[in-house]
Amino acid sequence: MSEQATLGTAVVTGASAGLGKIYADRLARRGHDLLLVARRADLLEEVAASLRATYGVKVQTLAADLAAAGDLERVSKAVAADPSVTLLINNAGLSTLAPVALTTSAQLQSMLDVNINALAHLSHAALTAFKARNRGTLVNIGSVLGFYTLPISSIYSGTKAFVVAFTRGLQEEVAGTGVKVQLVLPAATATDIWELSGVPVSALAEGTVMQAEECVDAALAGLDLGEAITLPSVNDAALLTGFTDASAKLFGASQTSKPAARYLATA
Ligand SMILES: NC(=O)c1ccc[n+]([C@@H]2O[C@H](COP(=O)([O-])OP(=O)(O)OC[C@H]3O[C@@H](n4cnc5c(N)ncnc54)[C@H](OP(=O)(O)O)[C@@H]3O)[C@@H](O)[C@H]2O)c1
Repeated sequence: MSEQATLGTAVVTGASAGLGKIYADRLARRGHDLLLVARRADLLEEVAASLRATYGVKVQTLAADLAAAGDLERVSKAVAADPSVTLLINNAGLSTLAPVALTTSAQLQSMLDVNINALAHLSHAALTAFKARNRGTLVNIGSVLGFYTLPISSIYSGTKAFVVAFTRGLQEEVAGTGVKVQLVLPAATATDIWELSGVPVSALAEGTVMQAEECVDAALAGLDLGEAITLPSVNDAALLTGFTDASAKLFGASQTSKPAARYLATA
């Protein structure tokens, strides 16, 4: 079968656990070959062996710390150089949920490194290749905390706001081409990220936490529907339109070249 006729290889970062592990399962079930990326090589190998046995697809693993420049470059090169890559799920991410003054510099840096720097460089590698082939799909995992900030999420929300703004721009860049870019904004989902963030999932309000399988299945349904932005847990889709319209309207209103009247009154 020619490359064009196959689903190709999906690269999933953060595939050793949580949402990434479910993405790997669902994409293998659809018939994608996989390249799985995360730090924990043993877990990646377990996931890979199970998916090979269950679905008969090719699964490669690449153990890499996306916060380390050399490892990030290895993964970027693997994405850019392999012409079979048709899909990148930029999913790896982490959070420390605490006020900034109670967050260590190392925790701050790792959120910037993985949530922003790695996502941006891998998007760059994938989109350059996809645009050259006029084919490919990039999925960036943000968060509802990318458009709403809690007193304990300043840094995490800042990193996810980058994902929102960056990915919205990429969508404009690929408009009218064969390349697709989806922005996924999950709300609280039951994965290890909570325990690792310092807030156990048991501390969240009842009825607010989605199962990881449901989150990924909804995100993939959104991709199949051709959605640019998928909010797996938001029932009223009109809220998103209102939000993006209001943001465009505010930007439009800023294009006046003059200080607003309320600032002139006191000058
Ligand atoms: N769960 C939620 O409530 C929620 C809500 C909104 C958005 N999200 C976003 O969803 C994505 C997936 O999170 P999750 O909930 O599935 O978290 P998770 O269960 O903690 O999984 C995170 C994954 O990222 C990988 N990872 C973390 N740091 C890495 C690094 N330095 N290098 C390479 N891989 C790294 C981890 O693998 P290793 O430890 O093996 O490296 C793991 O596979 C993240 O971007 C997160 O911000 C989650």
